[in-house]
Amino acid sequence: MTFAIARLPGGIGIEITDLEPASLQDPATATALREAWIAHGIVLFRRMADSPEALLALSRCFGELEVHPIPRFRLEGYPELILLTNRDGPSGPVYDFDGVHVHGRIPWHTDLAFATTPNAGALLRMVQRTATGGQTGWIDTALAWETLDIAMQERIAGLEAVYHFTPDLDAMRFNNPGGTRLTPKRDDYPHFPPVAHPLVWTHPETGRKVLNLSTLNIRGIIGMTEQDSDALINALLQHTLQPRFQYIHAWENNDVMLWDNRRTMHCAFGHPVDEVRIVQRSTLRGSVAMGRVLGEQEALAS
Ligand SMILES: [Fe+2]
Repeated sequence: MTFAIARLPGGIGIEITDLEPASLQDPATATALREAWIAHGIVLFRRMADSPEALLALSRCFGELEVHPIPRFRLEGYPELILLTNRDGPSGPVYDFDGVHVHGRIPWHTDLAFATTPNAGALLRMVQRTATGGQTGWIDTALAWETLDIAMQERIAGLEAVYHFTPDLDAMRFNNPGGTRLTPKRDDYPHFPPVAHPLVWTHPETGRKVLNLSTLNIRGIIGMTEQDSDALINALLQHTLQPRFQYIHAWENNDVMLWDNRRTMHCAFGHPVDEVRIVQRSTLRGSVAMGRVLGEQEALAS
């Protein structure tokens, strides 16, 4: 192994240092990096990637990469990378939060929580940070499960919940951050049918149990009244969103953050829309299906 590991100053994750880019070609180093990622959930590589090629070389140590299905999101010349930026204008909704016009705010979620095969993970490379805001946070949802009391674990272990694609913060049922939308709503998204997942997942690689609460997407628990379901989800969120389970990253340019999407939630704090932020991202393909697609009537009845 040709790198060093230090715990991040939060509730989850590690920083990897002393990693020579050339050593990424060494299969033993790649295996050790992957094992560290699976063991610790999120990994910071500080100022590690100064180019798309460097991000790709690092990303390939962790699994097969996903090509984004919509070409306009891809970084030109790099189909396995996504470009996230407001350089040419807002790429997502802008909200007014306390007088600040905020771009890129995405509350706690897991990627593809509204699909039946969530991606295994992702890597973000900060190309151009903003002077204000722009942090990204992660929560260890395996630790959140393990710190629930036994009675709650037994109560929720066999439950299923419904998750929807949610393009607007206004449509969030839980942990809604408020704010006033300043840009018009888009109606050109593909249709994603609702899905049911276990509320408690088993991580396919570690066997650890994980709370599946993606606040952007979760709608309710199957077989419960809305009142009981809302009360249970809110109680679980009050536990899970505690700072002791979190790491919040304040970016420097060329930092890379890697996360296990099956064991964490993440959130983007957003930044003032008049400051330019440029991020590149790779996505690690998921290989394990979880849950099932629901018919619209079944989703409404739940
Ligand atoms: Fe995300």
